[in-house]
Amino acid sequence: MATENTKVRDAFVVGLRNAHGLEKQALQIMNRQLERMTDYPEIIARLNQHTEETNRQVERLETILGRYGESHSALKDTVMSFMGNMAALGHAPAEDEVLKNTFADLAFEAYEIAAYKSLITMAQSLGDQEAIRLLTESLKEEEATAAFFDQNVSTITNRYLQQSHAA
Ligand SMILES: [Fe+2]
Repeated sequence: MATENTKVRDAFVVGLRNAHGLEKQALQIMNRQLERMTDYPEIIARLNQHTEETNRQVERLETILGRYGESHSALKDTVMSFMGNMAALGHAPAEDEVLKNTFADLAFEAYEIAAYKSLITMAQSLGDQEAIRLLTESLKEEEATAAFFDQNVSTITNRYLQQSHAA
């Protein structure tokens, strides 16, 4: 039984580290988009809001990792190739950049939602109520952000079409 628990604990720590790397990458992507999406003030506002949320999510992950004896300085963030490709979208100058960024943001949030659900399942398996509470706060923020981008695909597309015609 102790061995089982160690396995779950190890998987949890790996998952927490991956999520930490994911959030750090999210910050970089949002930062690049903030510089480029200046024609879309509602997206800028949401990206600013989610940047603040993401900073708190990083702190939550570091808090949980700290409780498992993982020091902040020892964190080596894993950069996933899938997310690397998504990041490239953030600075590829293209006319339809705003559309691609919106697709990428929605996909990124979906990935984060899955990651947090998986972490919550592991925390439940460990009976770690504090981790469940912290991770659920982050999950709710990711779900709200995903809903925003999901609802804005049509709005942004229509604005893009208007601006394309105006040019
Ligand atoms: Fe996010």
